[in-house]
Amino acid sequence: MGLPRAAVAAKAATAMPTTASPILIFDSGVGGLSVLAPIRALLPHAPIVYAADNAGYPYGTRSEVEITARIPALLGRLAERYDPRLIVIACNTASTIALDAVRAALDVPIVGTVPAIKPAAARSKSRAIGVLGTDATVRQPYVDRLAAEFAADCTVLRHGSAELVDLAEAKLRGEPLDPAAFARILDGLLGQPGGDAIDSIVLACTHFPLVESELAAAAPRPIAFIDGKEGIARRTAWLLRHTTWPEQPRADTALFTRNGGTIDRYREGLAQFGLSGIETL
Ligand code: DGL
Repeated sequence: MGLPRAAVAAKAATAMPTTASPILIFDSGVGGLSVLAPIRALLPHAPIVYAADNAGYPYGTRSEVEITARIPALLGRLAERYDPRLIVIACNTASTIALDAVRAALDVPIVGTVPAIKPAAARSKSRAIGVLGTDATVRQPYVDRLAAEFAADCTVLRHGSAELVDLAEAKLRGEPLDPAAFARILDGLLGQPGGDAIDSIVLACTHFPLVESELAAAAPRPIAFIDGKEGIARRTAWLLRHTTWPEQPRADTALFTRNGGTIDRYREGLAQFGLSGIETL
């Protein structure tokens, strides 16, 4: 699966991106839609392909070895298919584990997603912040480094929840959600020793902003939920600031890596993010 670096480089040398070349936004599932929305707000004429690796979902319970082996090869294949001018890895799990490997493998500009510990620490008055991510993300040395660099004077507590990722997917399929589940998941963080002081929670998985209102409603006290999606959008727009975009109306597409039976249930949710077409790999 995927293209070797030399093949991608040769392709890049012969086929410069055209005005029709899209921004490719990538995640294991629908989480990257939380990043798509602010990108579209800043770049309304940019063609977008949204790629959901539902064949690999969920990433958060996979090993580092699996993720590092899977994502550069898959993105190489997607780059060959769509000739994107830029790829946004709209996934904390993939970015904190495989960003360097992807950059080494592809000659396409890559924007990654990292847990928003810096803005959370800048904002916290209690100097206690929570990091809510996937199991894989919260155990990454990358998170240790962010905490040491930007939140050295804070207590930083972490909790991984695969269930919250599933709940965000269920919301996009239009399924009813149990409010008690959100309270229970938050308690995994707030119930830890020192958790009662937390005033800011980093949503360190791109799925989680999709259920931020449910989290806020379930929180036992006012808590700020912080994520990095606006910063990712600004970075993307800055990198593409010299690009001329097509004038004609766009029909943006979602791509799934497996043609499973549940894809149709996402159609309405995807349409709300302006994704009218669905393709499979
Ligand atoms: N949305 C992804 C993230 O930001 C991962 C969800 C998953 O597949 O576990 O980490």
